[in-house]
Amino acid sequence: MSMITVAGWHPGSLSTRGSMAPIILMLVLLIICIAAAGNTSEEAFLDEVKAVDRNFDNRSVPLDHYVVEDTVLAKENYQGGPFRVLARKKRIERYKCSSCHGDKPITVNEGKELTHGDIELEHGRSGTGLTCIDCHHPEARDYLEDKKGRKIDFDHSYQLCGQCHFRQKRDWLGGAHGKRVTNWAGDRVIFNCTTCHNPHSPRFEKRFPATYSVPMN
Ligand code: HEC
Ligand code: HEC
Ligand code: HEC
Ligand code: HEC
Repeated sequence: MSMITVAGWHPGSLSTRGSMAPIILMLVLLIICIAAAGNTSEEAFLDEVKAVDRNFDNRSVPLDHYVVEDTVLAKENYQGGPFRVLARKKRIERYKCSSCHGDKPITVNEGKELTHGDIELEHGRSGTGLTCIDCHHPEARDYLEDKKGRKIDFDHSYQLCGQCHFRQKRDWLGGAHGKRVTNWAGDRVIFNCTTCHNPHSPRFEKRFPATYSVPMN
């Protein structure tokens, strides 16, 4: 008579295991019950969520931080609706430019050196680098200028940068480049490009990390 044996198991041990069978069965049933209960409560929760059919309005959430800086409504279409950016004009030392750049030409010796000597232009590769009027309006100095000669307000300088850096601007719109000013509740308020980048020398200086890991050996 041949006997079928399974590695590590032979019929002799069946009797001792047999006494365990009801307990194992009960455990299995218990686990199934718990799993089923978990499922129904999850479904009930989802049903509850689905039952609320009004759109979530993040302005309905109470704020614990208010944005105290000046902001402007962005002139951009964004899938999440209207949003605001940090204003710039009050932070620009020499604004209004028209206090010097009026109708008449300025005829002061070394005038440019005296007034704008601190501006070092390091934007774009040498040779193909940018000049002042690639960005500033040649006559209306209180404004920037786009590629079609239209005025851009200093508070909306992202429109200027976005003409050439469209990938970064797209990322900035979506929230992947740049930064949100405060919480996720309330109006979306984000940093302007020039809150972070100096337009004349936009690259950040390389720097050592504040702390570094000591080599393992
Ligand atoms: C204190 C007076 C003063 C103020 C304020 C001032 N500028 Fe000027 N700016 C000058 C003088 C002087 C020159 C040189 C003469 C000229 O080009 O008209 C000059 C020249 C310029 C030029 C031409 C530089 C070149 O290489 O051709 C630009 C661009 C410019 N200013 C932009 C601005 C902008 C933008 C502002 C405001 C944010 C501003 N300025 C505010 C005095 C001033
Ligand atoms: C890449 C575009 C760009 C170029 C090129 C550029 N500017 Fe500007 N400039 C800006 C923007 C944008 C601002 C406003 C920055 C901000 O929001 O603080 C500004 C600000 C200024 C200001 C005011 C700064 C202050 O804090 O008082 C002056 C003056 C100025 N630019 C002059 C010049 C001159 C002169 C040149 C050429 C040598 C020049 N800019 C080239 C974009 C540019
Ligand atoms: C007329 C086109 C033009 C405009 C407008 C412009 N840029 Fe640039 N920017 C360039 C070019 C060209 C470079 C050099 C790219 C390179 O070397 O690969 C550059 C380089 C940069 C860099 C450094 C990239 C790197 O890794 O070296 C930054 C940051 C930057 N721009 C930010 C800005 C900001 C902020 C503004 C708006 C105030 C702006 N740019 C407006 C053309 C522009
Ligand atoms: C919260 C600060 C912040 C804001 C706002 C911001 N940037 Fe930047 N940006 C950075 C930092 C940080 C880097 C990385 C610099 C580096 O790697 O040296 C960077 C890098 C860049 C570069 C270099 C290429 C790259 O992607 O690394 C460009 C171009 C640039 N930014 C353009 C823009 C433009 C255009 C805007 C506005 C639409 C903008 N930035 C807004 C902080 C900012």
